[in-house]
Amino acid sequence: MIFVFSATGNSMHVARRIANATEDYIVDIADCLRSESFEFQTSANERVGFVFPTYFLGLPLPVEKFVEKLKLHCGQDAYVYLVTTFGTSPGASAALLPRLLKERTCITNPINTASVRMVDTWTPMFNVSDARRNRRIEQRAEVEIEEIASAIVTRSGLHMSGLRIPVWLARLYHSSYETERRTSRFRIDREKCSGCGRCARFCPSGTIQMADRHPRWNAPKCFMCLRCVHQCPSFAIDIGYRSRTHGQYIYPECK
Ligand SMILES: Cc1cc2nc3c(=O)[nH]c(=O)nc-3n(C[C@H](O)[C@H](O)[C@H](O)COP(=O)(O)O)c2cc1C
Ligand code: SF4
Ligand code: SF4
Repeated sequence: MIFVFSATGNSMHVARRIANATEDYIVDIADCLRSESFEFQTSANERVGFVFPTYFLGLPLPVEKFVEKLKLHCGQDAYVYLVTTFGTSPGASAALLPRLLKERTCITNPINTASVRMVDTWTPMFNVSDARRNRRIEQRAEVEIEEIASAIVTRSGLHMSGLRIPVWLARLYHSSYETERRTSRFRIDREKCSGCGRCARFCPSGTIQMADRHPRWNAPKCFMCLRCVHQCPSFAIDIGYRSRTHGQYIYPECK
């Protein structure tokens, strides 16, 4: 069983590659939050994986919300692992999720952790408009994903790549996620917006409603996953000048 959160496809791609290698199945965390499904049972020595992106050097809010309610009945011999995807630094997610799992669930098994560098989708800061650069990052990631999937098949230890950050420092930086999550930051170009409703349909926090053929945010904060920005066929949504000029990115096979 592989629990996945993915806004723009990077983590979903990693989870699918692992699932192909292990013949495990994927459980989408966003679907679980929507349907309030939090109870899962695994067989005695099943593999249990968590795959998700790094947000502000820590955990995405949907992952925290999910794990806080998760009731996972897994065997003592279960092989538990975590793979985070990141663009610049995996921060302290490898330390934070195991802590949360131990606090909130009955998982006592050791947790193997790995990370994969992929295209950084935080476009208020990073530019994703160079397709050749993105392709190079995707190709490098494939090598890492292959190694991780093979290690998971043989239930071996995993290793983190990228610059890891001490938990205290990551927590300090992560506190800015709260202010960055304000939906008042979204801007919509009404001339570009075709009213297709895709942004509302795929928003994992259910914060977007269509009104008068345009999206409207119905809560002061959301997960700020940027799926709506990256998936809009007309690039009609942005969160400020830089995100408007930094392009859109969805992992190719997840478009
Ligand atoms: C809100 C937000 C915060 C992010 N923070 C970080 C970060 O702290 N460090 C990092 O390396 N990448 C960061 N990223 C980039 C993503 O972790 C990375 O692109 C990831 O692979 C996206 O996964 P997904 O396509 O499965 O959603 C952030 C992205 C978003 C949307
Ligand atoms: S996805 Fe883009 S074009 Fe479609 S309704 Fe949303 S903002 Fe408009
Ligand atoms: S409104 Fe956009 S950024 Fe916020 S949770 Fe929904 S899809 Fe993600």
